[in-house]
Amino acid sequence: MKNILFVASEGVPFIKTGGLADVVGSLPRDIDRRYFDVRIIIPKYTCISQKMKDKMEYMTSFYMDFHWKREYVGIFKAEVDGIKYYFIDNEYYFNGPKPYCDDVKFEIEKFAFFSKASLSILPVIEFHPDIIHCHDWQTGLVPVYLKERFQGNDFYRGIKAIMTIHNLKFQGRWDKRLVKDITGLPDMYFTPDKLEMFGDADLLKGGIVYADAITTVSQTYAEEIKTEFYGEGLNGLLKSREADLRGIVNGIDYDDFNPETDKYIEYPYNAINFRKEKVKNKRALQKELGLSQDDRTMMIGIVSRLTDQKGFDLISCVMDELCQDAVQFVVLGTGTEQYENMFRHFAWKYSDKVSANIYYSEAMSHKIYAASDAFLMPSLFEPCGLSQLMSLRYGTLPIVRETGGLKDTVEPYNKFESTGTGFSFLNYNAHEMMRTVRDAEALYYDNRREWNKMIDRAMAVDFSWKVSASKYQEMYDWLRP
Ligand code: ADP
Ligand code: GLC
Repeated sequence: MKNILFVASEGVPFIKTGGLADVVGSLPRDIDRRYFDVRIIIPKYTCISQKMKDKMEYMTSFYMDFHWKREYVGIFKAEVDGIKYYFIDNEYYFNGPKPYCDDVKFEIEKFAFFSKASLSILPVIEFHPDIIHCHDWQTGLVPVYLKERFQGNDFYRGIKAIMTIHNLKFQGRWDKRLVKDITGLPDMYFTPDKLEMFGDADLLKGGIVYADAITTVSQTYAEEIKTEFYGEGLNGLLKSREADLRGIVNGIDYDDFNPETDKYIEYPYNAINFRKEKVKNKRALQKELGLSQDDRTMMIGIVSRLTDQKGFDLISCVMDELCQDAVQFVVLGTGTEQYENMFRHFAWKYSDKVSANIYYSEAMSHKIYAASDAFLMPSLFEPCGLSQLMSLRYGTLPIVRETGGLKDTVEPYNKFESTGTGFSFLNYNAHEMMRTVRDAEALYYDNRREWNKMIDRAMAVDFSWKVSASKYQEMYDWLRP
């Protein structure tokens, strides 16, 4: 039996702002429990819903030296579907209406605290991991602290660390002197071969340098991040560590995302009866959102964080033109004010065609995956992307840019061979995207038989965790201490 510890800043079903939470919460469920005991540590944010807080049980607390103070570390635990979660409690760091805020300095201090506390609680919860699996910059200091101070203690000796990059754009970078002060790490750690990054200190870089293995969430992104365009300044380091870097594509939870049993949708359907049943969800959503009610109109869904990453500049550029077509857009998302307002504007201008839902709702997201005919995701970069996998599962054909995980998971339509599960374009160019959307429209309106055959293929591909979980298992075995 091998013990694996996930350390992350979010995880379903407790707290989610994006795909990271889906991965952290769902991957452990598909790891073979006969050989691996996987447990998860996340912060106990005060913004976690009361319903989920009620599932937690207080274990104990202690004080830890951190940033020239003695900081309170509370430990809570919970078990969901047989997976053990631990929560680090400290209301100074983990309060506020959301898990993250815009004050970078505070974020760095918060997650430095979280990283150190996660290691400190291990003897207390009596869990000795063989491998600590860290996710994104928020946990970048875990491998650093592990090698720097904890390995001096017998309990920690020999523990291996994996760093998984879900998004290289965010690295936790700040003034070197300040990070030195916060973390208490000695000077020797702040050189360009370790945490230093163009004169600043970079927590993700520390994680990458000190991890025994590095992964990211698709094979294409694993290649892309070794180049200057996608590498965000770390391409040189990633290239030099390419022997330890691999891309493992994400899966999704096929029970949570199942059009046949989904509790959020009104009209369940499956790969056999979707031709008749799926459209009932479209009709219901058109009614709920005040769009013109017509079964035949092609509905294009967007469920996304509204940030630069997701390609909204392309949409903004050609949205007026696309709204001349016989299509409806249903958008769900929150994020940058510029994009929130852009969608509000188009919803005002084309009120029977565009519905802008600027909020977060699990229920509404499922309704959109089920009701839409196509799903638009023209990302500038996309480490993996889960929304397109959810769309495929619901027979909603993705229209994507060929980057990162989008390239690895959506097979472009080939009309000569009648293959493919979606539509894609290569260049980050608004008119290329528009042409691709219009190709999709043409197939939808002029050749419904072919369209439906593509849905058959989309619903038949398997992006459950089965295959990818076994790749993580291989890696855990390979790292055997
Ligand atoms: P990212 O992690 O970059 O945001 P992913 O495609 O990997 O992108 O994952 C996004 C996840 O967040 C999906 O589960 C998607 O359904 C969900 N999501 C994004 N925005 C919203 C929203 N406003 N309401 C509900 N779910 C959302
Ligand atoms: C990040 C990426 C997204 C990926 C998710 C889970 O948020 O932006 O592409 O699917 O992490 O790995």
